Amino acid sequence: MRPRCAPRTNGPDHGGYERFPTEKPSRAPRPRDHGQDSRARPRFEAFPRQQSCRLDPGCESPWIDLSSEKGSRTADRVVRHVPRRKAPGLRPSVPTRVREQWGKTYRATSYRELPWFSPRLYPWLKLGIEQRWIRPRTRILDVGCGAGTNSLFLARAGFRVSGIDLAPGAIEAARRRSAHLGLSVDFRVGDALRLPFSDRTFGGIVDVGCYHTIPVRLRAAYSRELGRVLRPGGRYLVSWVGRESTGSFGPPHRPSLEETAAAFEGEFLFLRTEFEPPRRGPFSSYHAVLERRSLPQPPRR
Ligand SMILES: C[S@@+](CC[C@H](N)C(=O)[O-])C[C@H]1O[C@@H](n2cnc3c(N)ncnc32)[C@H](O)[C@@H]1O
Repeated sequence: MRPRCAPRTNGPDHGGYERFPTEKPSRAPRPRDHGQDSRARPRFEAFPRQQSCRLDPGCESPWIDLSSEKGSRTADRVVRHVPRRKAPGLRPSVPTRVREQWGKTYRATSYRELPWFSPRLYPWLKLGIEQRWIRPRTRILDVGCGAGTNSLFLARAGFRVSGIDLAPGAIEAARRRSAHLGLSVDFRVGDALRLPFSDRTFGGIVDVGCYHTIPVRLRAAYSRELGRVLRPGGRYLVSWVGRESTGSFGPPHRPSLEETAAAFEGEFLFLRTEFEPPRRGPFSSYHAVLERRSLPQPPRR
């Protein structure tokens, strides 16, 4: 016997699912026979018995088995409970609301006034260059580059740099600054979840404060996308505001170390991790050096 019919969201019948009848169960007497297997007994007698399953036309049961959908009472609700499965290879993107918010931030405020702006190279990257955590003169991606301070320092230090940011205002500022300094950096407006670069383009990635802005449910996708464009053995230097921070100001989702390990360990090895306790303000930060795995992580037992 075929297994029970599981809802599908990625087939051509998906539209049929939305159109599934939504009437409330009628008080009409129950049909006596729901088939030989009593476990296939439908919970929603309102649906005509001869209704074929639109999600899986070959399915033996004419019903969608909702018994595993805890608390579901109507087909409508079930639609909301079904996890959305993406077609393989389809990359998610940041929600439009997030994109607009970043655009607005850079339009409303001069980049120099933004709380994260610094005219100096970020200390963790400075250490990374000095300690050669990223190979000299390699091609580097500055993800969530903002107004480009770190990209510009890296370019001056001899790296070939691409900087990407969601906000057009940030990239305009970064381009103006690089023209002013006579430095050549490939600055682009774009989404870190859909990087406009082919696989294994970069020897290193730097990320100062972009990771902690990524919506929680997209963290693993973020890791996969960074892993895609980084060559095996390439390093990813990342700093983020940690869970231990206090105060309402700052990034809303402050990743803990455990969450970060869970999001990144499929693509990366953690070579080094440091915790920086709050000094003057309420923020504590994590700084890490990750290395792109050459082989995929073995599946968990
Ligand atoms: C806290 S700021 C840090 C900017 C810069 N790294 C710096 O140190 O000055 C975070 C930056 O990430 C960008 N950002 C957020 N989500 C992004 C995404 N999905 N793709 C690209 N950039 C993103 C924002 O527009 C913002 O400029």
